Amino acid sequence: MPKPKVFVTRLIPEEGLAMVREATAMKLWEGELPPPHKVLLDEVREVEGLLSLLTDKIDAALMDSNPRLKVISNFAVGYDNIDIPAATARGIPIGNTPGVLTDTTADLAFTLMMAAARRIQESIDYVRAEKWKTWGPKLLMGQDIHGATLGIIGFGRIGQGMAKRAGGFGMRVLYYDVYRRQDLEQTMDVTFADMDTLLRESDFVTVHTDLNETTRHMMNAAAFAKMKPTAIVINTARGPIVDPQALYAALKSGKIGGAALDVTEPEPIPTDSPLLTLPNCLIVPHIASASVATRGKMAQMAAANLLAGLRGEKLPTCVNPEVYERGVRK
Ligand code: GLV
Repeated sequence: MPKPKVFVTRLIPEEGLAMVREATAMKLWEGELPPPHKVLLDEVREVEGLLSLLTDKIDAALMDSNPRLKVISNFAVGYDNIDIPAATARGIPIGNTPGVLTDTTADLAFTLMMAAARRIQESIDYVRAEKWKTWGPKLLMGQDIHGATLGIIGFGRIGQGMAKRAGGFGMRVLYYDVYRRQDLEQTMDVTFADMDTLLRESDFVTVHTDLNETTRHMMNAAAFAKMKPTAIVINTARGPIVDPQALYAALKSGKIGGAALDVTEPEPIPTDSPLLTLPNCLIVPHIASASVATRGKMAQMAAANLLAGLRGEKLPTCVNPEVYERGVRK
């Protein structure tokens, strides 16, 4: 039996790549940038399995370009780059990599919060610009984390990870989610709040929802207007949840105190974005899950999903399990 053909859209860590190389006839896009959409389309025509990244747009046309394409495995927990209803309608199971990146992502969100609160970027720039002449009683004063109120929007795995960390720092934690988690409120010492209350009372607002039509630009001018003038917003979820123009206006005018972003709209952030001119806006390049160990585990999970799909087995972590009731592509 010839090995099934697959296309892997970027060089993922060897832990997963080795599994794919061993079991398939793998074609790998080795570019540093994602394959252009035309290349992706051409490659997909040839294969039964696709291992994609969040930078690859997977739409119905791509799925229709090859009726033999029977599994798509996304190297990410998020899957807003893929048209899931279109995949389900066509009998294509979609894999993702939940769980393994929860704590790594929460670590980074907490890091960003602390860095923004204590003005770490400005402080580093200050030293490097040779401005540090003496100890200053009012030099680069920031905000305390301990005793502050953290507002968590989206109380899934990563949001809960933030709450755990916040508990260790003596923060008061409010959360908002479309699903209230009364079961966790006592054990995690968190309080459910509606969005308005959360925005009004929080010193730090951190976003952990997925991107969908209700969360797109959820953090907009109206939301910033409700926040404290000292409040800091943290986004490690998806860029378009925060309206970048409204964020710029809110930061510039002092409606809010700061922002720390791992994700932006668009991505990468344009080099001429006005957000990059603001000292109170800290931006890193979508690295929340980027620890060596976690990216290795994500690669293994993505490979395991891909290989299961090729064998006609259920994906270990499947985004659209309802596809199995409708019948999957053979
Ligand atoms: C990263 O953003 C992911 O969804 O895994």
